[in-house]
Amino acid sequence: MKKAIIIGASSGIGEEVAKLLLQEGWSVGIAARRLERLKNVQDKFGEDRVKIIELDVKRQDATSNLEKLILDLGGMDLYFHASGIGFQNVDLIPEVEIDITKTNSEGFVRLVTYAFNWFCNNTKKGHIAVISSIAGTKGLGVSPAYSATKAMQNTYIQSLCQLSKIKKADISFTDIRPGFVETDLLNKEKHYPLMMKKENAAKSIIKGLKRKKRILIIDWKFRLVVFVWKLIPNWIWERMSVKN
Ligand SMILES: NC(=O)c1ccc[n+]([C@@H]2O[C@H](COP(=O)([O-])OP(=O)(O)OC[C@H]3O[C@@H](n4cnc5c(N)ncnc54)[C@H](OP(=O)(O)O)[C@@H]3O)[C@@H](O)[C@H]2O)c1
Repeated sequence: MKKAIIIGASSGIGEEVAKLLLQEGWSVGIAARRLERLKNVQDKFGEDRVKIIELDVKRQDATSNLEKLILDLGGMDLYFHASGIGFQNVDLIPEVEIDITKTNSEGFVRLVTYAFNWFCNNTKKGHIAVISSIAGTKGLGVSPAYSATKAMQNTYIQSLCQLSKIKKADISFTDIRPGFVETDLLNKEKHYPLMMKKENAAKSIIKGLKRKKRILIIDWKFRLVVFVWKLIPNWIWERMSVKN
């Protein structure tokens, strides 16, 4: 039975991916801060196949909790990082920017480096998949820390991809870049264009993971958006009023 560790599986895309993997026969180790929500998944699929642990990526002890979870699960074939926060911050409140940075950059690096080193030291073969965002494509004025941390994640995974070749480790990498997905991350009061259901986003992710896609932009409409964004020269982009 294949084993996946999913960090950030208490809601949204991470939870949906966990459920789909379970339906496909995987066993999973799931982690987040809201233990009671992880417990709901465990109650549904059984303690044999679902291991849970409370984990906060911002805390130093996150790696020892991850270590416990891998041991409890009996190994790891796939490390899936879904944990993340994001807010628009047009008033540029420093605390908001710093909190996003701590979760999406420091917390991300803390956990992903552990997974990378675990694969190198144990199985030498594995798959690391992370959810970044299309928001990393260009700097977004309404959410500076969010778009900057997502760009950081894109570059970080590319670096690890190269490092795994240097170390002759057989690790595959998938950088998942969704457009808008209807989850708790988005502001319920606002309208977001081309919004996807989390169930559909998770299905596309599973498909991409099976194909070991290196970069997975979901869905096709957002692939088009990213294509157009990339064509816009920075001197024009920086004068544009991109609100979402
Ligand atoms: N929704 C979108 O439109 C969208 C678009 C592009 C990318 N994404 C990315 O997709 C990922 C998942 O987000 P989502 O949309 O599914 O939203 P979500 O439902 O809010 O899920 C976020 C997950 O991250 C976990 N998390 C947050 N802070 C954490 C911390 N300090 N320690 C451990 N876990 C933490 C949450 O668990 P706890 O709160 O229980 O800890 C939750 O399980 C994020 O990285 C997000 O940036 C989302």
